[in-house]
Amino acid sequence: MSATVIDGKKIAEDIRADIGKKVLELKKRGIIPCLAVILVGSDPASVSYVTGKKKALVEAGMKDLSFRLQEDVPEHELLRLIKKLNEEKSVHGILVQLPLPVHISEEKVLLEISPEKDVDGFHPLNVGKMMIGKKAFLPCTPHGILVLLKKSGIKTDGAHAVVIGRSNIVGKPVSVLLTQKEYNCTVTICHTGTKNLSEITRSADILIAAAGKPLTVTADMVKSGAAVIDVGVNRIPDGSKKSGFRLTGDVDFERVKEVASYITPVPGGVGPMTIAMLLSNTLEAAQNVAVGTRETAQNAAAGADLKKTPPASPETL
Ligand code: GUN
Repeated sequence: MSATVIDGKKIAEDIRADIGKKVLELKKRGIIPCLAVILVGSDPASVSYVTGKKKALVEAGMKDLSFRLQEDVPEHELLRLIKKLNEEKSVHGILVQLPLPVHISEEKVLLEISPEKDVDGFHPLNVGKMMIGKKAFLPCTPHGILVLLKKSGIKTDGAHAVVIGRSNIVGKPVSVLLTQKEYNCTVTICHTGTKNLSEITRSADILIAAAGKPLTVTADMVKSGAAVIDVGVNRIPDGSKKSGFRLTGDVDFERVKEVASYITPVPGGVGPMTIAMLLSNTLEAAQNVAVGTRETAQNAAAGADLKKTPPASPETL
């Protein structure tokens, strides 16, 4: 029997509609969630991702503040822009599209973004909090995968999840999250140094392909009834397309779908969920500010009351 194809686009649309309603509520209180999106250079894939993110922000009623910097922009200029955005109260989130040109240190850039505005969840403080199971902004693609699993009714408790790929953006964080009690998976991380890849993948109940290479997962590598999540977004030259390319994932979709129980397509699987989770984090960053503002106002009111109270005398201390 052929696998259920998970409609990530539909699941993401429902989440985005819900976020749109919450944005309206915030707007009534005078707060417009705003994300600053910084793109350095003109890598076509990055341009396409950023365009998708900005379109989604606007559709959800949020504000997008875009910065397009030249490929050769000095590192200190990018850091200065981030500092300015950190201080800007009307900006709730800051996203620097990765990868960055080689002359810019990704580590320095991610460290510069204020953790409260780090809606990508890439700042070491947020990564550390995620690692120890504390509340933090979760990285969007791993978070999107977790929501897809949940919404599709895929059982994670006690499942063996095999993740192919060890990137900081997907492989490592999704592995950490799946081991947490809430998901309760046993996780194996595979990478280019893994010797017996097929043997390991065949024991997976949940197989997550995030290798960035087409046909990394073929049908013979998949256990019958496994759930297969394809994170790959690869551009394959295709003369029949206006763009000159088509998108394909890391999984041999047509053949694997005959073996798996669930499978995500590319496009239309994980990709739309990444964007939905970015909107969710941006909304949360704005809501945090709204709560902070209310609390500050309450504290100020309490402070005013305190001022009315006569200073404590030594006897009352
Ligand atoms: N490049 C690839 N994925 C991502 C992402 O989720 N966020 C950012 N900022 N850059 C990326």
